[in-house]
Amino acid sequence: MCNKDLGKEICELKAMVKAQNKRIDMLIKHVKEGCAADEDKEKESTIQNLSPYLPCLCPDVLFHLNLDTATTAFPKVFGDVRFVCLGGTAHRMEAFAYFIMREIGLKLSTSAKLKDLSEDGHRYALFKVGPVLCASHGIGCPSISILLHELIKLVHHAKCQNPIFIRLGTCGGIGVEPGTVVITSEAIDGQLRAAHEVVVHGQAQLRPTQLDAELAEELKTLCKPGKDGFVAVVGKTLCANDFYEGQSRLDGAFCDYTPAKKLEFLQRLSELGVTNIEMESTAFAALTAQANIKSAVMCVAILNRLEGDQITTPLDTLHQWDMRPQMLVARYMRRVLYGDPPEETYECWCSLSKHDVPDEVRATTQECS
Ligand code: URA
Repeated sequence: MCNKDLGKEICELKAMVKAQNKRIDMLIKHVKEGCAADEDKEKESTIQNLSPYLPCLCPDVLFHLNLDTATTAFPKVFGDVRFVCLGGTAHRMEAFAYFIMREIGLKLSTSAKLKDLSEDGHRYALFKVGPVLCASHGIGCPSISILLHELIKLVHHAKCQNPIFIRLGTCGGIGVEPGTVVITSEAIDGQLRAAHEVVVHGQAQLRPTQLDAELAEELKTLCKPGKDGFVAVVGKTLCANDFYEGQSRLDGAFCDYTPAKKLEFLQRLSELGVTNIEMESTAFAALTAQANIKSAVMCVAILNRLEGDQITTPLDTLHQWDMRPQMLVARYMRRVLYGDPPEETYECWCSLSKHDVPDEVRATTQECS
């Protein structure tokens, strides 16, 4: 090759390198700008319809959770939350937090314990396990509604992206075998309205109580009756303001109706498509829907109300039934976090609570916070 040809080739190569460098610079710029745009997007929470007065609260004090935006960096502490699980008692939610920690493959160092982040508030308990927040809500709509106002503000201040809220609990079944998991399609109140009534300035406002139909169906499909030994059904839920007369029981301190009237009411509920009775679903459904939060209510029936009022099932059986909605929610979270398991490990995956966490689930293991 003569010097002239060599010079030409060098020239061409230089031009090519220059063009490629230019292209690389362009790509780097594009990636940087793209990431910056994504980061900007992530800066906003996905919660909607919030009070216009929230930005004026400096700090915002979440009184019943004993948290505030001045002393807690919400995005840092809670920004990774993807699931918010609610249940009645502090004890149940602490146990659930340890359970879900194992199920999603997280670990605490040997001597460490999960901390109740709201302990000093003496109202609700709040535990954080990686992307899962676990909170106790007490009994009834007023109690869960106060908690939800504060949890919704918490995920908003933390800039959480599309958090999913799930209430796990117990209920009285209507025409279902005790031990059945009932997933709510729509909550109705004591007057049989598909609404949550909020009285503002002396006027009653009715807020819709439809729950996410897709999520309810997905949770149902995660139950494998043949293997699990129980079934899950989707149906309407009566949300009562009382455990006794409000649920047509005969065994409260007071009762001014007959057993025939009680059965007539429960039959009417059944004809309306109601499959269970509990005490928080209207507030839970209405507040999460108002905030544009995907949510579900999953309760295990601890008796069939068509057959009686008193709960006589032994405590250890009740504890086993308590685990049923928790098992399904654990499968749901693992699916969301890690995807579906390989076919051949499906059975082990389903019954993870009884086994060690397999490697494929542990793939993205991190320390719990
Ligand atoms: N929770 C209720 O509200 N009612 C029942 O019958 C059982 C649990």
